[in-house]
Amino acid sequence: PVTRYYEVELSQVDLAPDGFVKKIFSINGQYPGTILHANKGDNIHVTVKNNLGFPSVIHWHGMLQKGTTWNDGVTGQTQCSIPNGVSFVYNFSTGEQCGTYWYHSHTHGQYMEGLRAPLVIHDPDDPFRSYYDLEYVITMSDWYHGRISDLLKLRMAPNYGGFNPIPDSGLMSGVGRYNCSAAPPNSQCRPNNPLAVYKVTSGKRYRLRLINMSGLVHYIFSVDNHPLKIIEADGQYSRPVTVNKLPVAIGQRYSVIIEANQPVENYWMRATIDDRCILKNQSTINIDSAINYKVTGILRYDGADIADPKSKEYPDQTEPCLSLDQSLLKPYVPLQVPGPATNEIKLTATFGVDSQNIGRAFINNSTYAVDDQHPTLEKFVNNKVALNQFPANQNIYSYDKWGETVDIIFINNNFAIHPIHMHGHSFFVLGTGSGIEVDKSKLNLIDPFPRDTFVLNSTSWAVFRYKATNPGVWTIHCHIEWHVEMGMVAQIIELPTALSKAEIPESVTDLCRQQQKSKRSRF
Ligand code: C2O
Ligand code: CU
Repeated sequence: PVTRYYEVELSQVDLAPDGFVKKIFSINGQYPGTILHANKGDNIHVTVKNNLGFPSVIHWHGMLQKGTTWNDGVTGQTQCSIPNGVSFVYNFSTGEQCGTYWYHSHTHGQYMEGLRAPLVIHDPDDPFRSYYDLEYVITMSDWYHGRISDLLKLRMAPNYGGFNPIPDSGLMSGVGRYNCSAAPPNSQCRPNNPLAVYKVTSGKRYRLRLINMSGLVHYIFSVDNHPLKIIEADGQYSRPVTVNKLPVAIGQRYSVIIEANQPVENYWMRATIDDRCILKNQSTINIDSAINYKVTGILRYDGADIADPKSKEYPDQTEPCLSLDQSLLKPYVPLQVPGPATNEIKLTATFGVDSQNIGRAFINNSTYAVDDQHPTLEKFVNNKVALNQFPANQNIYSYDKWGETVDIIFINNNFAIHPIHMHGHSFFVLGTGSGIEVDKSKLNLIDPFPRDTFVLNSTSWAVFRYKATNPGVWTIHCHIEWHVEMGMVAQIIELPTALSKAEIPESVTDLCRQQQKSKRSRF
């Protein structure tokens, strides 16, 4: 196989993606960071040079890391963070995977400050290649003007009692248009910032690769007058299905095809939200501020004026609080659903406070606390710490029978919605429903769709199924970054017997040693 070599540098730069100048955490000085491309089957070799001024780490969202769990890039689980001033190489195979992915920091909310970028694995045997002429990658993200470290301090302060910080703005493919009149007096802000423009030629068809890279916001994507034909979700081909609006939860990806068959004009591309999806129960927040993080871009036909579309930039009504009906997605080629499950792991998510009255999220009544200095993988494999010796706040679950079928039963016992993401697997979503009691009659064992991020609505359940064939330390967590910091995280130690024989590369174990030497261990 071919190896693709990339180098990415993490550093702080002043940028104004939405017109408002702030210091951001950048990948190669840009926001979003450099798009990485590879073909199915390639190896990816990325040198991460950390010049951020803080320890950092990079996770390859959706890459299964078969046999290379130490490349998964999760602080405190698969590695120590890369200290400032140090370079570290991630080297993994894309295997059989193709489709749309992303990579991002997996520590202390850093990706909300800018450490996030697309990763596209092209498929030389793409069954949909004749359905489109060109492709674009479109990212959506919320955007905070405050420093994330400050916002985290606020969120995690004792007696805070509030909700998650509300983004100031939103970005499509890295740009947005902030209403500068709302900016504080001494800030630098450029009004009417140019938006992302996607050029199309009449008669051609385009594959749009959509990625929601947000920290908090669940976006609903649409293009005025252009239906979206879904062909891929989270790296899996689907039978084509057409929708007008596509809800994309945090961490999810889709490929959709649009046809440039409308009059030569400019059209709004929208990533809108339902204010109620996010602000529900956040009565302290002014609903009007929600307009700021609705996101737009422009679809511009060749020959159209260089101008904004004539229709309204923001619709008058808010969107319904919708998620995509998962049953619309069907695998493009029939897939064998493993089963029945010989292992069920039930995870119930709740909110509460700890003994200092700090707002925390719990899984099965235990709130996860990251141990930056002692990653689970090294503790288990190299230091031979038995699984039952890990502290309760490591939220560890395990199963050891090779090839067995595992069901994760995820229960959301609270009002918020949670995009649940699992590392190391793409899982079949067997079913979901409201309430906290699983209704087994609602499970689809015939043609469920596999994905790696699934959004759970308020007070609801979902069943995820996969086969245990990937020894490793895999996290399963809500992808709302605030909820991660609050502890809505569990760790799965898959196939510990096989895993205990793993040889973790020295470059990985070295990071903890270097970390101990460096003074500034976290911010
Ligand atoms: Cu996108 Cu655990 O991450
Ligand atoms: Cu959550």
